[in-house]
Amino acid sequence: MLEINDIAFRILCKKAGAGGVYTGMINPLSKKKVILDDKPIVQLFSKDTNGIKYFIKKYDKKVSGWDFNLGCPSDVAEKLAFGAYLSDLKMIEKIIKEIRKNTKKFFSIKIRKSSFSFHILRIAEKYCDALAIHPRTKEQGYSGKADLKFALELKKKSKLPIIYSGDVNEKNAKDLSEKFDFIMIGREAIGNPNIFSKMTNSKKNFSFEDYLKIALKYNLHFSQIKFQAMKFTKGMKNAKKIREKLLLAKKLEQIEKVYNIF
Ligand SMILES: Cc1cc2nc3c(=O)[nH]c(=O)nc-3n(C[C@H](O)[C@H](O)[C@H](O)COP(=O)(O)O)c2cc1C
Repeated sequence: MLEINDIAFRILCKKAGAGGVYTGMINPLSKKKVILDDKPIVQLFSKDTNGIKYFIKKYDKKVSGWDFNLGCPSDVAEKLAFGAYLSDLKMIEKIIKEIRKNTKKFFSIKIRKSSFSFHILRIAEKYCDALAIHPRTKEQGYSGKADLKFALELKKKSKLPIIYSGDVNEKNAKDLSEKFDFIMIGREAIGNPNIFSKMTNSKKNFSFEDYLKIALKYNLHFSQIKFQAMKFTKGMKNAKKIREKLLLAKKLEQIEKVYNIF
């Protein structure tokens, strides 16, 4: 997830038991610094095959795999005709082919429910190792019902392993993991990496302090640390009050004080 899946958060999720972690979508032409010391699966968000090729060549040794985003419903995606707004099947095949040509590592694509999902599946079967489906339409964004039936139909017709994404939580994870090859946890993991320990029956328990230690090791920006500090209040007693205090923080010490970290 963009903004959420920084390196410290990814490391924590992996320690808690996640089988694999993805970066948020990355535009290969962006000048933003990428830290890949944890060898994540890197998700690309672009239509520029040269940019993609260059990026893969530069980072292939540092990643455990690649993913191509065909599901982002944002205004930026609409403006650039990226993500869920990329519907030109010839263009999609050209990009996917190029990615495959430049890496031998695991390669998945992530799509949404649409009238061309099955066409994309056929293309993916030629080049990819897996396909992730979030069965909401781009018009639905992140709300409304995820269409499980649609995802099951895709799974039935697929020669590729299918990763299911959409409202996966502690209650439905076991059932969904029996229906699909893999499950992907999104929003339930925000501020809650321990969801992975619970799902893997481990006793590991991580706190914001654990996040902070890793974030400082990687020199993450104060604004990112503050953003995660707010997210980690999820489920806490007095979460609203704590967030109000965090909102005013201008220095790390203020965040540490709110969390009683000395
Ligand atoms: C804040 C946020 C950022 C996201 N960023 C990405 C992204 O960069 N790439 C992507 O494929 N999906 C992204 N998603 C979608 C999630 O990966 C997931 O498919 C979707 O939220 C449905 O799963 P969930 O109900 O478990 O959250 C994002 C979702 C949220 C809420």
